[in-house]
Amino acid sequence: MPIQSSVEIVDVTKDPKYERFLYWCIFHTKKEFIGKSIHKTYKHRYEYLKTMIPKGFRKKVLFYKGDHVGMIEYAPVEASGFPIIGENVIVMNCIWVHKRAAGHHFGKLLIEHMMEDKKGTTGFATLGCEGFHRVYVKKDDMEKLGFYSLKSMKVKHKGKKKGGCFTIHLMWMPVVKNAKLPTWNESKLMEGLYFCEHHPLYHGKHGCAELRFILEKH
Ligand SMILES: CC(C)(COP(=O)(O)OP(=O)(O)OC[C@H]1O[C@@H](n2cnc3c(N)ncnc32)[C@H](O)[C@@H]1OP(=O)(O)O)[C@@H](O)C(=O)NCCC(=O)NCCS
Repeated sequence: MPIQSSVEIVDVTKDPKYERFLYWCIFHTKKEFIGKSIHKTYKHRYEYLKTMIPKGFRKKVLFYKGDHVGMIEYAPVEASGFPIIGENVIVMNCIWVHKRAAGHHFGKLLIEHMMEDKKGTTGFATLGCEGFHRVYVKKDDMEKLGFYSLKSMKVKHKGKKKGGCFTIHLMWMPVVKNAKLPTWNESKLMEGLYFCEHHPLYHGKHGCAELRFILEKH
């Protein structure tokens, strides 16, 4: 049987049936959410979704033989989770394909799905990390998917969880020839991110209310 016939890409953005997929990374998706309401537990995420879904945020989950093994989320710059600036640019907040599903080109499939969904854009942007102590959102992974680094900044974490230097890259995948290049708001980036509590640059993991900037330039 061709692999495509066992693959389904589902929009989990609006259907309450998929709410847990909106709040958790697919690999942390528990069957039932136990305890406090999901909105109270993930309040930054809740605020982000409430504001940005109407502005074009989308999250898609890839099911392979009924098993959720991949996801991608993206939004127009004005609704994205990263402080990226650009004209008619779509920002990919996150992509993840589980190792157990590697080798099926699901990453590329999710990218193609996003490109088809957001036809008419000048290009796609995201962030990639290099030299970060955790293996998430690596620049190399983004390169495998077709992005290249436009600019970068060497940083270090301040606050609760310090750690070594690493480099953040603004990654770009143009669609239109001679597209105007995106950039980022450096000061906002140093504050950290709020859209996802599992993201390595999540403010809450490294900062606290008193610490506005969780990163410092190195
Ligand atoms: C990046 C990622 C999405 C790729 O997904 P995938 O389904 O394994 O990738 P694909 O099978 O579509 O492969 C894409 C390309 O990369 C290549 N590739 C994949 N894994 C590779 C590896 N380990 N080494 C070298 N090349 C590799 C493939 O050959 C393919 O290139 P091709 O089209 O020229 O053949 C996946 O590895 C991943 O989820 N990484 C973690 C991302 C992350 O940190 N997300 C969490 C954020 S908190």
